[in-house]
Amino acid sequence: MSSSGFKFTLLVPLMVACLMASSASNFHNDFDITWGDGRGKIVNNGEVLTLSLDKASGSGFQSKNEYLFGKIDMQLKLVPGNSAGTVTAYYLSSKGSTWDEIDFEFLGNLSGDPYILHTNVFSQGKGNREQQFYLWFDPTVDFHTYSILWNPQRIIFSVDGTPIREFKNMESFGVPFPKNQPMRIYSSLWNADDWATRGGLVKTDWTQAPFTASYRNFNADACVWSNGASSCKSNASPSSASTNSAWFSQEMDSAKQQRLKWVQKNYMIYNYCNDAKRFPQGLPPECNMS
Ligand SMILES: *[C@@H]1O[C@H](CO)[C@@H](O)[C@H](O)[C@H]1NC(C)=O
Repeated sequence: MSSSGFKFTLLVPLMVACLMASSASNFHNDFDITWGDGRGKIVNNGEVLTLSLDKASGSGFQSKNEYLFGKIDMQLKLVPGNSAGTVTAYYLSSKGSTWDEIDFEFLGNLSGDPYILHTNVFSQGKGNREQQFYLWFDPTVDFHTYSILWNPQRIIFSVDGTPIREFKNMESFGVPFPKNQPMRIYSSLWNADDWATRGGLVKTDWTQAPFTASYRNFNADACVWSNGASSCKSNASPSSASTNSAWFSQEMDSAKQQRLKWVQKNYMIYNYCNDAKRFPQGLPPECNMS
């Protein structure tokens, strides 16, 4: 871990010391609705957040905190019915021109046709690392858990505990890894019918508006950034306190690796690492490492 190793050695005992038990997640405590002129709402005493989109505007929210590493879970129920042309983005991002970003984007579809889950990782302003998936369930019927594990060694995207993508720290091969810039959590629901559904062929049917996506059960076992320093806290229940800092060095066991292979074999529909014609100079270095 080179120069940052010292800092993280200090962080781990700190994390254990700073565990805080608190009650169920409350969106009022952790998030601000940032745009959409009333189309984003926190309801049910803070237990549920909804975003909506109509012809005039979409809506969005962001976390009050910035995080530097964490295991962040959110349950989402996506726009049902004819959601073609809509995109629900849920992501972590830092600021500035050399930003880092970890993305989930859900591309809507006609009723009965599958959503696409689009993922990407930016480090120091450079992305172009798309992987796309179909899901093995209808994401509009129930809430499902979408998780980002981000520690100094790896980023793992999971759906209901099943890993769908891993981006390892390959700095030793010259691939920048997000590890110095704190990120906020963002989400937005917006119209992208110029590209989202069948590459832009299917347009948003505004007679179906407003379109609504819902969120609940946010949980962050994470290091919160404030005034230039990081401290690690958890809002998990006391019963899970003993495992709360495990995420900081977590990797996939063999069962998880099998699940990842299952998803990649059966549900992955695009992988930038297989798109040689897009990279005439050669595939990005991380593609030859895993
Ligand atoms: C929508 O459904 C069509 C037909 O099954 C499929 O080709 C496409 O990948 C689906 N998803 C999106 C976002 O276009």
